[in-house]
Amino acid sequence: MIKFILNETLVETDVRPTTVLLDFIRKEKKLTGTKEGCREGDCGACTVLLGVLKDDDVKYKSVNSCLVPLGDVNGCHVFTVEGINNGKLSPIQEAMVDQGGTQCGFCTPGFVISMTGYFLNNKKPEFNDAVEALGGNVCRCTGYGGIKRAVGNALTVFETERIKKKSHLETLIELGFIPAYFENIKTRLSQIRNSNKRSGKKVSTVVSGGTDLYVQKWESLVRNNANLISSDRKIYGIEVLKHQIKLGAATTIEEIRTSPVIQKYFPGLSEQLKLFGSLPIRNRATVGGNIVNASPIGDFTNILIALDAELHLKGMTRRSIFLRDFYKGYKVLNKRKDELIESITFPIPPKNFRFNFEKVSKRTYLDIASVNSTLACIYSRGRITCVGLSAGGVAPVPLFLKRASEFMNGKDVTAENIIYAADVAMKEIFPISDARGSAEYKRLLLRQLIYAHFLKLFPDKFDPEKLF
Ligand code: FES
Ligand code: FES
Repeated sequence: MIKFILNETLVETDVRPTTVLLDFIRKEKKLTGTKEGCREGDCGACTVLLGVLKDDDVKYKSVNSCLVPLGDVNGCHVFTVEGINNGKLSPIQEAMVDQGGTQCGFCTPGFVISMTGYFLNNKKPEFNDAVEALGGNVCRCTGYGGIKRAVGNALTVFETERIKKKSHLETLIELGFIPAYFENIKTRLSQIRNSNKRSGKKVSTVVSGGTDLYVQKWESLVRNNANLISSDRKIYGIEVLKHQIKLGAATTIEEIRTSPVIQKYFPGLSEQLKLFGSLPIRNRATVGGNIVNASPIGDFTNILIALDAELHLKGMTRRSIFLRDFYKGYKVLNKRKDELIESITFPIPPKNFRFNFEKVSKRTYLDIASVNSTLACIYSRGRITCVGLSAGGVAPVPLFLKRASEFMNGKDVTAENIIYAADVAMKEIFPISDARGSAEYKRLLLRQLIYAHFLKLFPDKFDPEKLF
């Protein structure tokens, strides 16, 4: 049985765990406020909040219900637009009406839910942050002016009417942002957790996040059983070991992006990972899923290859393998069927470490890269060492640029060396022409991204004019 709370109601169901949450909400529960638009995680019309019991609190995140298997909400609180009010509009809904933030209304529940999620997660809400939290919601008819003004109105209500002595949850309930039943959700989820132990079945497909799998093959997934490991706490979290950083395979991209550990060692990565996908996608996509999905243009895989990450697999036996050796061909992995990635480790960045990630896509946000690249290295006394240069979108697999990395190792950062390294890189790639650009374009793009790495990391170490 899958047990969860849908708005205020306890749901117990033996529906197949791979059923899409959106279908369950709309077809089984007839809650049609949550809309079906693209079914690919692009439009946000299907956004719901997922509340997970963690560290004695309920943490809410926005997710695209079109890409969530029902089994993954086991033990969670699922919050849809129908659960927001009791016959009275919430301040967010009021603001959308007052500011003309809705026209046909198709996108509106998704916007309202994302905004509600933002207020739930932020005790000190700010306008720009709140607008950014709506990055995964698309409106095709109203335009965003009214929606942004609605954000401003809701913020004003929160700021002017809150009573500071109350807890954040109490404040939101008092102001009508969320209904009173939220107060009991933590207790109710604890009870479900204690009564609800799921047993594993032998299955052929493993889903960890599913943000691409549920786009590519949702129909076959819903007809079969799968091992849903997105919420597996045993392979989750970020840890600092003696010399390495360890990521549990089920850790999400958003958890990595906001982790104090990652922010300490990779100060720019938090901003760069916003290019990975919208917030609801980052809330679901896992690092293990990203690796096993084996997309040649996977952003996080590209980063981990440059960092010389190692995968730790568990099957009949345990073994470790460097990510650089994991891909044998297009979507062909050095992995047995019985094996699961448990964790990923990479060295703690040493002193003088430099790191940069670049991605070019047709749109800046919410798009797949045409080409991406990462440079990781150590810079000391004018030379770079331990060079890890990677490229995506230029071969059937995410690529470690071995020859270009070896060439730069121990070299001075000069325009001549950078040009030569880019030339070497362009000879070790095999791009193809497709919707994201011609082979020639991708080849030239990689060269520019390599230049961009050096221009960003070593702006005063060489004459940029000499690159062109
Ligand atoms: Fe468009 Fe789910 S239906 S994101
Ligand atoms: Fe029509 Fe947004 S109001 S799509």
